[in-house]
Amino acid sequence: MKVPHYQNIVILTGAGISAESGLATFRGDGGLWEGHNVMDVATPEAFRRDPVMVHRFYNERRKDLFKVKPNPAHKALARLEGKHKGEVIIVTQNIDNLHQLAGSKNVLHMHGEMLKVRCRQCHQVFDWEGDTSEHLACPSCQAKPALRPHIVWFNEVPFHMEEIEVALYTADLFVSIGTSGAVYPAAGFISMIRSMGKAHSVELNLEPSEGQSLFAETHYGKATKIVPAFVDKLLKETG
Ligand code: APR
Repeated sequence: MKVPHYQNIVILTGAGISAESGLATFRGDGGLWEGHNVMDVATPEAFRRDPVMVHRFYNERRKDLFKVKPNPAHKALARLEGKHKGEVIIVTQNIDNLHQLAGSKNVLHMHGEMLKVRCRQCHQVFDWEGDTSEHLACPSCQAKPALRPHIVWFNEVPFHMEEIEVALYTADLFVSIGTSGAVYPAAGFISMIRSMGKAHSVELNLEPSEGQSLFAETHYGKATKIVPAFVDKLLKETG
């Protein structure tokens, strides 16, 4: 039996992997909403100042999710997880559910998920497909107003960081897909990988990211083209 070329594969994804499914990226020209810079909406201050505007922003983005589907890049990663004889984990900055819909199981949403909400009082997290507002009571503790998007805003701590760090320490292949490398801590993962000097590193993006010089291998182009090609090559190598 051929030993897998890589045992532990960590894949970081960003908005670029969902762009061809029709979801806007943050720093492309689609990064504005109703004239607001998304960075002005996705903050605890914005929510305190104008919760109705922030609820409306996420209610619209939640509705968008029901209009889009996984693209060949998402599906290629699900195929890799299914066929690879080692460990494959996706660490995504995205709050969409397209990795899961494509069939990926081992997915960590470090910036939270659009289809989940959290009670500001009891901190219980709920699956949520409908709109949120200040008029809804928490299904668990009945507090009202109570619900907020279960999404990590600027100045908040990303989720699953311990698990992610363990994955990065044990990785022998790190692949970064569709991210500008502009936002930490995700943007720092490649530096961690380089400082440990153990894993091979690959960037798959439309154009060079801020961290492009740190990657051992880079391929540029649309995710729906370069990600399936990369996965096919990897699976052929590892048999
Ligand atoms: N195929 C591959 N890459 C693409 C495509 C595509 N079709 N379209 C865009 N890209 C690339 C862009 O070149 C860019 O480098 O995807 C990247 C998207 O970058 P951003 O818009 O900055 O999104 P991301 O890196 O995910 O942002 C990180 O910032 O705003 C916060 O919390 C938000 O999770 C987000 C974080």
